[in-house]
Amino acid sequence: MKYWQKPKETGDVNNLAELITSGVTNLLSDFLTVVGVAVIMFIMNAKLAAIVLLVVPVIFFGIMYIGRFMRKAYGSIREMSGKMNAGVEENLAGIRVVKAMSQESENKNSFEKLNMDAFKAQIKAAGATALIFPFMSFTSAISTALTVLFGGLMIINGESAVTVGVIIAFISYTNRFFVPLRNISQVYGVYQNAAASAERIYNYFQIPIKINSPKQAVKLNSPLKGEISFEQVDFAYEEGKNILDGFDLKLPEGQITAIVGPTGAGKSTLIRLIPRLYDSSSGAIKIDGIDVRDMKIQDIRKNVMLVSQEVYLFDDTIRENIRYGRLEASDADVEQSAIIACADDFIRKLPQGYDTQVGEDGGHLSGGQRQLIAFARAVLADRPILILDEATSSVDASTEVMIQKALDNLTKERTVLIVAHRFTTLRRAQKVLVLENGKIAGYGTHAELLCHCDLYQELYNRQWSSSDIQESV
Ligand SMILES: Nc1ncnc2c1ncn2[C@@H]1O[C@H](COP(=O)(O)OP(=O)(O)OP(=O)(O)O)[C@@H](O)[C@H]1O
Ligand SMILES: [Mg+2]
Repeated sequence: MKYWQKPKETGDVNNLAELITSGVTNLLSDFLTVVGVAVIMFIMNAKLAAIVLLVVPVIFFGIMYIGRFMRKAYGSIREMSGKMNAGVEENLAGIRVVKAMSQESENKNSFEKLNMDAFKAQIKAAGATALIFPFMSFTSAISTALTVLFGGLMIINGESAVTVGVIIAFISYTNRFFVPLRNISQVYGVYQNAAASAERIYNYFQIPIKINSPKQAVKLNSPLKGEISFEQVDFAYEEGKNILDGFDLKLPEGQITAIVGPTGAGKSTLIRLIPRLYDSSSGAIKIDGIDVRDMKIQDIRKNVMLVSQEVYLFDDTIRENIRYGRLEASDADVEQSAIIACADDFIRKLPQGYDTQVGEDGGHLSGGQRQLIAFARAVLADRPILILDEATSSVDASTEVMIQKALDNLTKERTVLIVAHRFTTLRRAQKVLVLENGKIAGYGTHAELLCHCDLYQELYNRQWSSSDIQESV
């Protein structure tokens, strides 16, 4: 089963489906019966019919009142169960952290609170739903009592149109009138549930898509070459808190540029702007002189491959995860890419080889193995511009060799931007960009920066000089 075929929580949509299957289909016949019976009663005896149907407005307003209460209760059920499901998912995804920090009882308590809130919301809604039936039975009984009472009085008063037979017929019609009316009321209850869900679904659709392709996009006739320029780029995740500030730099095509800088300097942020995962708040980013906002988003992403810091793998086989780089690729192409990305070796050593399930978010694989699979994906996608956010997690020496070999293959004949955490990666770059607080602290070759850039010297002395010495030994 492919990951996208696996069932997920879709409570809101299920509630809409339930509305269709639970009684809406009978609604028309119920409605016609109610109207038909009312007409017959009026034809038999208009006065008596009017008395019987006196309860209809009471029913109408009563059901409307209960319905409004139900709508609110169902709304809060959906909200509470959404929170509860998110809680379950988060606790399961972070189970290792929870255990390592021995926070089980803390997390259990906060989950129990969420669970209790959801339970209370359910009870409230169930209470409101349960009111409908007795309310309808009560009004139906009142109606029957009114028929007998007023019908009896009419006979006593000698009204010739009313006989015992008419009263008995009216009692039977009253029953026939209330059964479909009860069904309609119950569907109304289900409708309230569906309406609460529809409101939530509608709200999702109302979330504006901020990053769109332009209406008049620049047509690209050939693959991009990869000259990337940042022109006075400002960027903030939250208004007023600029992460990038007047960033201005031109990177020539075909070059390998490494980006280094302290944690939180904005390295990952900077590269996310190129394939428009985010848009800059001012300034422009251009590839081959074309503003990325003037290109079709699919065109940019067909040319720019972003391998992010945390590799995400789908809960599927290794083969399908690599194929995600190019869905139409054959098995042979997938394996060839794995060979180029130096992933083939370890994959073949696994008992099921390429058909090994990687587990949720690649949980069955090590950090290094996940990275090699991400590289294989990038090889398969084969895009002219490669942006790589190197994982910070350290790997063992032999995996490190594999990663470096894979990088050699991957960066050949492309424009490459690598956020580098390892010196071995840094060494293959022609130019290094040093980033500090979203600003350029230095840009040049390793040798130039060692002479002129204080921050680079500091980073180098602290992080890499020992590995440099080891490598040169
Ligand atoms: N999605 C986000 N929403 C809000 N703020 C964010 C988001 N991602 C990053 N930031 C903030 O932006 C700043 C830069 O983060 P960024 O991830 O670009 O750093 P980095 O240089 O890649 O660091 P590292 O070397 O640790 O990966 C940080 O202060 C961070 O808190
Ligand atoms: Mg980062």
